[in-house]
Amino acid sequence: MRTIMLMNAKGGCGKTTLATNIATWLADDGAKVALADFDPQGSSLDWLEARKDYTGIPEIEGIDASKGQIKPAKGTDFLIMDAPAGTHGAEINSMLRRVETLIIPVLPSPIDMRACKRFLEELLHSGKVSRQQTRLAIVANRAKENTLIYRQLEEFLGHLETPFLTHLRESQNYIRAAERGLGLFELAPSMVAQDVVLWDPIFDWLNSADSRP
Ligand SMILES: Nc1ncnc2c1ncn2[C@@H]1O[C@H](COP(=O)(O)OP(=O)(O)OP(=O)(O)O)[C@@H](O)[C@H]1O
Ligand SMILES: [Mg+2]
Repeated sequence: MRTIMLMNAKGGCGKTTLATNIATWLADDGAKVALADFDPQGSSLDWLEARKDYTGIPEIEGIDASKGQIKPAKGTDFLIMDAPAGTHGAEINSMLRRVETLIIPVLPSPIDMRACKRFLEELLHSGKVSRQQTRLAIVANRAKENTLIYRQLEEFLGHLETPFLTHLRESQNYIRAAERGLGLFELAPSMVAQDVVLWDPIFDWLNSADSRP
């Protein structure tokens, strides 16, 4: 079973959005997927609840990891883990215990970029990351491509050692998908085409040896 976590100490950067969309992409591809929500807010579990209204879409197992043990069903191919905001220090180490692959969403904002720098410093000090037992990558989220602040974010991320995979556009499609318990890839293809292509580098990286210890 592969383990993929979405984490950033900063709140609201897109952890749940990436977790739910990665989960649906894998499930739509035929994989058996579990989604573990570590956040007491339970946003991923709420999303799974909304998903129950639909038939004919792949099932994703929900696990409330804020309460205790994470035991995905037998035969699970992917465990996607949605971390809460505010994870620091020793808590990062304990969260990373089972994580092979970590994706960090970052927003184009000065506050988020500074917070990202500090969070990466903390992560790079974690034993699992320094021993390369957890592999990291960054995704810029809610990008407005022609803005100065997005260019500043790209430049900032381009100078880091951690790979910067892609940017996801600021788009109502994420809101539409989130409220229905669907993934972007489960909405009308003509509506989401511009957003979907931007995910290719994420899935290429997840399929490559670079994302595994
Ligand atoms: N690319 C995007 N375009 C538009 N809205 C987005 C995008 N990504 C995320 N959002 C919206 O931004 C809000 C915060 O995103 P999300 O809940 O995924 O962040 P989070 O990091 O999980 O937050 P928290 O730290 O509270 O858990 C949500 O309302 C979500 O629908
Ligand atoms: Mg969240």
